[in-house]
Amino acid sequence: MSEKNILKEVPCIETDRLLLNGIGTDDIDDYNAIVLDKERNLMWGYDDVGALGTEPKRESFYEVVTTDFKNGDALNFAVREKGKTKLIGEAVLYDFDNRGCGELGCRIAAEYSGLGYGAEAYKAVIDWVKRSGYLRKIVGKCFKGNISSRKMLEKTMTPCGEDDKYYYYYVEVE
Ligand SMILES: CC(C)(COP(=O)(O)OP(=O)(O)OC[C@H]1O[C@@H](n2cnc3c(N)ncnc32)[C@H](O)[C@@H]1OP(=O)(O)O)[C@@H](O)C(=O)NCCC(=O)NCCS
Repeated sequence: MSEKNILKEVPCIETDRLLLNGIGTDDIDDYNAIVLDKERNLMWGYDDVGALGTEPKRESFYEVVTTDFKNGDALNFAVREKGKTKLIGEAVLYDFDNRGCGELGCRIAAEYSGLGYGAEAYKAVIDWVKRSGYLRKIVGKCFKGNISSRKMLEKTMTPCGEDDKYYYYYVEVE
């Protein structure tokens, strides 16, 4: 299977402490809070606001998520604590190369940091990809100064190089 087999809905993934599923309209304010937290996103590596090309509206980032999903360009998972509905982060598969490889990113709201939720969510998506065969390979990277991201990646992926800016990782699914 490849990522261009567009899914009908975002899968639901459970871990010991988390539930990952689709981002809905009820999540808009919590999602915006994460996306617009400038300090938290310093090493996120993507300019969500700049990419819009216009002043963000309340629905803007939610619309990006839903449009990317519909087009098979990205698969964004909401990260929630089990038994609670609040969106506390996201894990996103994106940058598909149409040959079975995609990149995985994750961000957790600052007030939920230090609990290892990012690493747990990251691993959950990798395990789901392995189970589902959605991709054959997942890559990840982090800025060299992004200590928590590097730890997250090293728990689940194999290092495969570095340059001036990034450490690079991958996991083969087959
Ligand atoms: C990367 C991220 C998702 C990791 O989430 P997380 O697993 O919940 O991270 P935690 O806060 O629990 O920290 C993970 C590890 O980094 C360590 N850490 C975090 N900041 C640190 C610092 N400044 N110095 C040393 N260690 C640090 C923690 O102690 C923990 O170590 P451990 O696993 O050995 O216990 C989260 O930090 C985040 O959302 N960052 C902002 C967005 C981002 O940069 N995403 C990465 C792009 S892929």
